[in-house]
Amino acid sequence: MAGDFDLVTPLPGAGFGGRVRPTGGAGAHTVIAAAERDAGALPKMLAASGGLLLLTAMDEMVAAPELLVRLSRIFGPEVENYRETLTSPAMVHDTVPEIFLVSNAPPVNRGPPSRPEPPLTADGTLPVQFPHRRGWHTDQSYRRPPPDVSLFLAVNPVPKGEGQTLFADGTAAYDALPPALKARVDTLEGLHVGLSAERSYDEILASKTPRALKPRERPQRQPVVRVHPVTGRRALYLCEMRQMDWLEGPFVGLEPGPRGDGAKLLFELMTHLTRPEFICVHEWTEGDLVVWDNRCLVHAATWFDTATQVRIMWRTTVSGNPGAAYAGEQKSWVTA
Ligand SMILES: [Fe+2]
Repeated sequence: MAGDFDLVTPLPGAGFGGRVRPTGGAGAHTVIAAAERDAGALPKMLAASGGLLLLTAMDEMVAAPELLVRLSRIFGPEVENYRETLTSPAMVHDTVPEIFLVSNAPPVNRGPPSRPEPPLTADGTLPVQFPHRRGWHTDQSYRRPPPDVSLFLAVNPVPKGEGQTLFADGTAAYDALPPALKARVDTLEGLHVGLSAERSYDEILASKTPRALKPRERPQRQPVVRVHPVTGRRALYLCEMRQMDWLEGPFVGLEPGPRGDGAKLLFELMTHLTRPEFICVHEWTEGDLVVWDNRCLVHAATWFDTATQVRIMWRTTVSGNPGAAYAGEQKSWVTA
């Protein structure tokens, strides 16, 4: 591809994703100046790569965090200001409120997910497929409209072999569904909800008494099949134990609850969506910046040893082009 960037696809070991190689010089300042000169270049590469881009050697962003926000603006009109969205102040960057902190270090103190059981597959590899691997989600799907794109910078990643981020290709997974299942899910809606609503699979299975929810906490309907507003392609759009509503859902119009018909379908779809051939495993190096498209990918974090490791990652979320299904909607989370 001509211009300031080359795109190398796919990412190692995966069937999708791409690495962006700047041709006019490395470093975050240089790369962002080039991206702003040709503002369509990186978004086009994001679409061409199936929704997953890796930029390396972005270390300058750590001393100049506003660079991460500038790069985020390339991918959409609205970069979330976490000070305005009821986010705990401990999880927001001190001087740049568009940066959400993901870390096991104080003051964030957010640990990784627990290790899968058993920790490796029968082949000795990292478990990726649901339900052995849990924690698959798409960012903030408990909002309508949900965000389009997330950017994730490795400020202080943990050594390779732990603390990876897994991505599943919802477009390829949709394409590979049997026709009868496609027809069943094409017009189906999932019910997504945040953890604070206490409607996770485990909580409902334990018969936890549901609590009254504020309007902004209410479960949100989302299409199970998203039509991507840029590529026009269909992709599965689902979460699982912790980000679907297991009281009224997981699907609108199907028997609810962890033992219902909706649960059976969710397990079938998530097991399919996370088949190894649809997965990309990213092992982090300091200065890596990964851009992912929440409209067509789901992702999951993995365990690392918090007794010996400190992990610091910065995330931004970008909104503004969720597609025709959300045209003209008010933001669900801005209500009282
Ligand atoms: Fe996430």
